[in-house]
Amino acid sequence: MCGIVGYIGKQQAFPIIISGLKRLEYRGYDSSGVVTIDENLKVYKKKGKVSDLLEFVKDKDTKGTIGMGHTRWATHGEPNNVNAHPHTSQNGHFVIVHNGIIENYARLKKRLEARGYSFKSETDTEVLANLIEYIYLKGKISAEIAVRLALTKVIGAYGLVINCINEPDQLIAARKGSPLVIGIGEDEYFIASDATPIIEHTNSVIYLNNDNIAVIKRDQLTLKTIDDDKLIPKVQKLNLGIGEIEKNGYDHFMLKEIFEQPRSIMDTFRGRIAADLSEIRLGGLLDIMPKLIKAKRIIIIGCGTSWHAGLVGEYLFEDISRIPVEVEYASEFRYRNPVIYEDDVVIAISQSGETADTLAAISLAKEAKALVLGICNVVGSSIPRETDAGVYTHAGPEIGVASTKAFTAQVTVLTMMAILLGKERGTITNEEYLNLIKELTYIPEKIKTTLKHDDYYKHIASLYKNATNALYLGRGYFFPVALEGALKLKEISYIHAEGYPAAEMKHGPIALIDENMPVFVIATKDKSYDKIVSNIQEIKARNGKVIAIVTEGDTNIKSMANHVLEVPNAHPVVTALLTVIPFQLLSYHIAVMRNCNVDQPRNLAKSVTVE
Ligand code: F6R
Repeated sequence: MCGIVGYIGKQQAFPIIISGLKRLEYRGYDSSGVVTIDENLKVYKKKGKVSDLLEFVKDKDTKGTIGMGHTRWATHGEPNNVNAHPHTSQNGHFVIVHNGIIENYARLKKRLEARGYSFKSETDTEVLANLIEYIYLKGKISAEIAVRLALTKVIGAYGLVINCINEPDQLIAARKGSPLVIGIGEDEYFIASDATPIIEHTNSVIYLNNDNIAVIKRDQLTLKTIDDDKLIPKVQKLNLGIGEIEKNGYDHFMLKEIFEQPRSIMDTFRGRIAADLSEIRLGGLLDIMPKLIKAKRIIIIGCGTSWHAGLVGEYLFEDISRIPVEVEYASEFRYRNPVIYEDDVVIAISQSGETADTLAAISLAKEAKALVLGICNVVGSSIPRETDAGVYTHAGPEIGVASTKAFTAQVTVLTMMAILLGKERGTITNEEYLNLIKELTYIPEKIKTTLKHDDYYKHIASLYKNATNALYLGRGYFFPVALEGALKLKEISYIHAEGYPAAEMKHGPIALIDENMPVFVIATKDKSYDKIVSNIQEIKARNGKVIAIVTEGDTNIKSMANHVLEVPNAHPVVTALLTVIPFQLLSYHIAVMRNCNVDQPRNLAKSVTVE
């Protein structure tokens, strides 16, 4: 949800900023802009992608060793050149880039208009630029103080980089709600919304906390709170390789991330499953384990794909650990006055760790004094900071906007938690405990086998690429997989798709079935196999096209379905991790065949830091 980059140092800022913006483009891609600073501010903004900006700036003066850039996902004001960032204040004293939302911008704007300010754009960010300038000019104070005072008047979320042309050799960075990382070089600093633009320059970083303001000169960084208290910056080392944020020969990040899953799942259980497969150890949960074991109820919160992983978690915790579970959309949970008990355990799931609704739901759960745990991928993001304890998924950076390896990593963590809790609560025997651990560790190899069928998935994709609607059906653990399959298809190929529990088909969706409707059915061998076979027959009786995901060697369904996609035989508890793979690849190929922008689907952004 908008990416920002800043640079101050000895090098030319422009190429550093542009390459940073390209790395952050997954956060928003409807317009972008850049400013470089020497004696003048040189601001260039363009609707469209960073490549459009680059083309536009081709013959222009971009000199300067200080600068900042922005790639936008529009909140206030349509995507166009004027609403693109950076925004300059009315009298040109300040230029800023912003990620987040100023909620009280309309009131602030009115007050500034009454004091003679007028506005070029429809953005909340321009209001902030003018507010800072107004306070600066009125108080005849330093830029740093003006920024601090202005931010005390702001309600909302921000990651900001600001320059004052009268104090040109410094950048001011501030954070509340929207992430900011500062990379430390030699007499140079790099600022960005996440670490991906920084890693090629340095691996020493400072993560800003909420209400932190950093004043950054080439050779010095001063960190303070918004109340002007000085802080000692905590320098951390990035554990991220450049290869992890490159496509490495794949056509798209999404494809690379799908194929990475055997490795990323192993990274998720590395150090957590003993080498002899005798136990699961989740270091991040050690301190809170007694409370978790006694939990009367688990509430799982998340959005989108993370919510789907949470639904798999519901089946896992109830099936294996016998704890009642509720799974909630974070956005609904936060606004519906939910009943939360002190002995509830709330698990927030988020790839980015920055999703605004999930963060707000966490605050609510904390107010109610529940134990709040996080399952997140991005190390150092907001959710792990806000939760009492948690488990990182360690899937590595996920750059494709459609989530793939994050989902399987989240389900892997939930599976480990459920197995561990089952053992600790005595709801599974030691033999079952050891068997489930073993079954989980077999999954990466089985995903490798599944990935080998990619050419066949491509062929199936070519048959259904022109569909206008699709149904996805599954039961039990596979109902959330059906939802996830439908989400993957609609978000990247713009084909309307719905996921249902297979038995619900008869309560409405069956009316949609005709010879043009592909129905993707998960029909692997488990206790509902016979029921799902009946569902397939019902679809065939209405001339629907059935594409069934089946257990290797299943000839029964092969004789009924139009196509079968085989996955290796596995324990039903872990089979969701396999059955999602064909859906990811089918969606990917269909989207490519429809000429859709797979990694940056329209209207979407990777991390949704606004409500
Ligand atoms: C779908 C997708 C989104 C995210 C959702 C939550 O492919 O990526 O639905 O799952 O926006 O994001 P996180 O997990 O970062 O909280």
